[in-house]
Amino acid sequence: MKILVTGGTGYIGSHTVVELMQNGFDVVIVDALFNSQAKAVDAIEKIVGRRPEFESFDLTCRKKTSDFFDRHTDIQGVIHFAAHKAVGESVKEPLKYYRNNVISLINIIDEMSRHNVQNLVFSSSCTVYGQPDPEFLPIPEHAPIKKAESPYGNTKQIAESIIADTIKAEDKIRGIALRYFNPVGAHESAMIGELPNGVPNNLMPYITQTAYGIRPILKVFGNDYPTPDGTPIRDYIHIMDLAKAHVAAIRRMTDGRMKKNFEIFNIGTGTGYSVLDVINSFEKTSGVKLNYEIAPRREGDTIKVWADPSFSNRELGWKAERNLDDMTRSAWKWEQAYRKGETLFE
Ligand code: UD1
Repeated sequence: MKILVTGGTGYIGSHTVVELMQNGFDVVIVDALFNSQAKAVDAIEKIVGRRPEFESFDLTCRKKTSDFFDRHTDIQGVIHFAAHKAVGESVKEPLKYYRNNVISLINIIDEMSRHNVQNLVFSSSCTVYGQPDPEFLPIPEHAPIKKAESPYGNTKQIAESIIADTIKAEDKIRGIALRYFNPVGAHESAMIGELPNGVPNNLMPYITQTAYGIRPILKVFGNDYPTPDGTPIRDYIHIMDLAKAHVAAIRRMTDGRMKKNFEIFNIGTGTGYSVLDVINSFEKTSGVKLNYEIAPRREGDTIKVWADPSFSNRELGWKAERNLDDMTRSAWKWEQAYRKGETLFE
């Protein structure tokens, strides 16, 4: 069975392609390489022993998208990752985000419907929940959606609505939106991992780069939050557990196990960890003393959010298996391999 993976050379995409191929799926990747390297395809081949097909073009181009689907008539499902994802940048350049994230989705759904491709998995985010009210912690899928804090977050909400409305209007397409919590870590081979462009925004790559000496010091954004140690709490999830959720979602669709034509699942572990918990785990698994300081809060940060994954566990037959130490250990292994030039990436 062939799956189109858009954004398949990116962080979540590349790990998911490995997992799909190791579960017997064929994969064609489409990626414009805005924020990733074609070397990911070589790395995937090295891990899996089989090469995914790969085409590089921009999915906001209607013509190129339609030509692509005309040439690949054997696609049976689409996992759509390709999107911009930097929260801060989206505030400064909203149209860049709305154009890329929304138009590519519309083009893809249009072509799916034209070519009778039924199955769509969409990468959504727990950012759609904003700061949940206390009665919704851990947060279930039916918790209220809060007004998005950034254009990036809004594109995820809009995309979910576009998918829901299209599926309501035509019964040919089925969709699953996976709301990811905080994906971290890397494939155990350290051949693929997270490769942020410039200064990282996210915690884990900032930690590993600081430990390696690329950044002088990690700033912990606030320790005066109403949490046990004063730092914010997130549901960090190992990237390979996240990758497995996509295989489970595709199988649910193709095995005819969906209960509605559009389903939404939380993809998290169900356990919340603070920033200091992550740092402590990193120091333990790496043996490196991390240079960090407490800094002012970062604007727009949620205080605490973690998933209620019981619906995913039950319905998808999927459960996150790796713990925080597995996450920090694999992230550090990847950072070192990359910096020492042991990977295929530039
Ligand atoms: C952020 C985005 C979210 C997006 C996700 C994936 C915001 C408000 N949210 O999630 O929409 O889906 O990234 O890209 O930007 N931290 C530090 N120092 C650092 C970096 C982070 O203390 O240098 C702290 C943050 O304050 C936060 C935690 O680490 O408490 C996690 O931050 P981060 O990795 O950026 O993820 P989110 O903010 O949860």
